[in-house]
Amino acid sequence: MNDQSSSEKLWGGRFTGDTNAFVEAFTASVNFDKRLYKHDIRGSIAHATMLTKVGVLSEDDCASIVSGLETIQSEIESDQFQWSIKLEDVHMNIEHRLTQLIGEVGKKLHTGRSRNDQVATDIRLYLRDELDLIIELCQRLQANLINKAEQEANTIMPGFTHLQVAQPITFGHHMLAWNEMLERDKARLRDCRKRVNQLPLGSAALAGTTFPIDREYSAELLGFDSICVNSLDAVSDRDFAVEFCAAASLMLVHMSRFSEEIILWASAQFDFIDLPDAYCTGSSIMPQKKNPDVPELVRGKTGRIIGHLMSLLTLIKSQPLAYNKDNQEDKEPLFDTVDNLKGCLFAFGDMVPEILPKRDSLYQAAKQGFSTATDLADYLVRKGLPFRDAHEVVGKAVKYGVDHQLDLSEMSLQTLQGYSDKISQDVFDVLTLEGSVAARNHPGGTAPEQVKKAVIAARDKLEL
Ligand code: ARG
Repeated sequence: MNDQSSSEKLWGGRFTGDTNAFVEAFTASVNFDKRLYKHDIRGSIAHATMLTKVGVLSEDDCASIVSGLETIQSEIESDQFQWSIKLEDVHMNIEHRLTQLIGEVGKKLHTGRSRNDQVATDIRLYLRDELDLIIELCQRLQANLINKAEQEANTIMPGFTHLQVAQPITFGHHMLAWNEMLERDKARLRDCRKRVNQLPLGSAALAGTTFPIDREYSAELLGFDSICVNSLDAVSDRDFAVEFCAAASLMLVHMSRFSEEIILWASAQFDFIDLPDAYCTGSSIMPQKKNPDVPELVRGKTGRIIGHLMSLLTLIKSQPLAYNKDNQEDKEPLFDTVDNLKGCLFAFGDMVPEILPKRDSLYQAAKQGFSTATDLADYLVRKGLPFRDAHEVVGKAVKYGVDHQLDLSEMSLQTLQGYSDKISQDVFDVLTLEGSVAARNHPGGTAPEQVKKAVIAARDKLEL
């Protein structure tokens, strides 16, 4: 840790007393905001370059600032940089070191800038990079879901409503349902990126600066689409971080549904899938246990991420313009959301190819619960019965099946005809599971033919 008295602090000029040691530690953010170092340095290089272009800094000044900042980056990356909480945050740690390295010129870097527009710029640069990584991880998971859907396009399983067997569906169709959720989640992240990618730098503390800055040039250097048009808004709002956490929360809400199903499916009661050992752990007391830890943890992390969304919303609520120190509290929830969302996407991306559907067990389960009852009703409609009457007829046949432990497909033609004389031998074509899924052959339906088409369409969208 560097040793510094308050008069050596970068803002120490108007202070005479030392900062209370507890307050110093309490107000410092360097322990967590140091992860912004790369973006801080990138922003500073762009700022110095812009100041040089408009004639505020000389070419020589700029060259030594840039080389000093590059040295700092390598010091940080080789773990030789001494972070100090006395220097409060990442910005002042870096600026202080710059002056140590290059002397007086280092003090010119902060011309026409404030930590308020600096930090807002850093977070946006950071989040933009992370969004790109998160979108890639989402694509990877989607690609694996689509592959699984293709492999299991013909695999029959029960579809549920109210967690009761409803109608037979295909496993591939189920995989593609998850893919659709992720597709929308990804679109929300991409939309959020547009609003992240606007430049606050140049807003200075709150009102702009007296120097002849070129903000469009800074934006161009940093790859921002445009500048934030109002300086007060630019330094104070963190709505882009809220948007990100909202999109992340919804993505995790979807992944928690996904997790819940995997957990159920891997249980002895369902017995729908085999989850490889790599995604499970054992119990320290019950030797027989194989617990689906990865999906359970993803389900659990959903609560934490929704919590971060609540923190950020509440952080911003009622804050008067412009910057307030409250905003230092934006980072930990944001960073934790990024880290955990990436972890969940990565773990699921790895796990999905390893989910092994137990085809026989799925098939047997689909046969239970009269899953082709709607098919029989639709059959009777095609033979001229109004749907409500057909519903009534099938309900009676199901009652018979319950009493005699027979599936509809296991009843004799005579028995079925006892419920309607419109029934003939061809009824058995619609009562099979294969016939049932194949009949739902329209866009969005579960028929294997449709699943195969949907796989191609989903892959095209992924632009793989
Ligand atoms: N560490 C601060 C933050 O994260 C940087 C901005 C500080 N600005 C100030 N006026 N104290 O928000």
